[in-house]
Amino acid sequence: MEHHIYAILIGYFLGAIPFSFLIGKLKGIDIRKVGSGNVGGTNVLRSAGALYGALAFFLDILKGYLAVIFVSSFGINAMLLSGSFAVFGHCFPIYLKFKGGKGVATTFGVFLAINPWSGLVFFLIWLLIVIFTKYVSLGSIVGLLGASIFTFFIGKDYWVIFLALALFSTLRHKENIKRLLNGNERKTDVVKYFFG
Ligand code: G3P
Repeated sequence: MEHHIYAILIGYFLGAIPFSFLIGKLKGIDIRKVGSGNVGGTNVLRSAGALYGALAFFLDILKGYLAVIFVSSFGINAMLLSGSFAVFGHCFPIYLKFKGGKGVATTFGVFLAINPWSGLVFFLIWLLIVIFTKYVSLGSIVGLLGASIFTFFIGKDYWVIFLALALFSTLRHKENIKRLLNGNERKTDVVKYFFG
């Protein structure tokens, strides 16, 4: 029980560190007021360029990864709890009046730490969709759902938690989904940002 309380606190306060916001600030930008307004790596990439975007992605992934690793000696339930609260903290950060991002990069970090294969499946789906459609939101949603289904097929019973995290992030993409359906979602040429 005590371990689970540690896991919740470690996960939440680590996940709540708003790296994308802080990196935007390094460039003199309030990420909440530009582009999509989302406190996430994609919006940093679009608003501040590849270097800042890559750093934001990396740190948001890392905090999810570390939230899981830090409690790994407490067992898989504590790892799932800490990882889930890291995603929750990212989406509702105490430091930004509870207005955070959509949890994609942090969930990716959690998947990677718990099952690297699930993390890899997410990344491959995400990359292919983003390269071919330029819709990061679509890649994120399909990637997280796809990685959860993959986790089910390889027989890991925590697939349910992965699916819950994927559905939670999908709900956070409500506005993106509306724009995707209306055909006016922002396109982000990730390859061009990174490779010119
Ligand atoms: O990680 C969030 C991404 O899926 C969408 O971001 O800024 O296009 O709403 P954005």
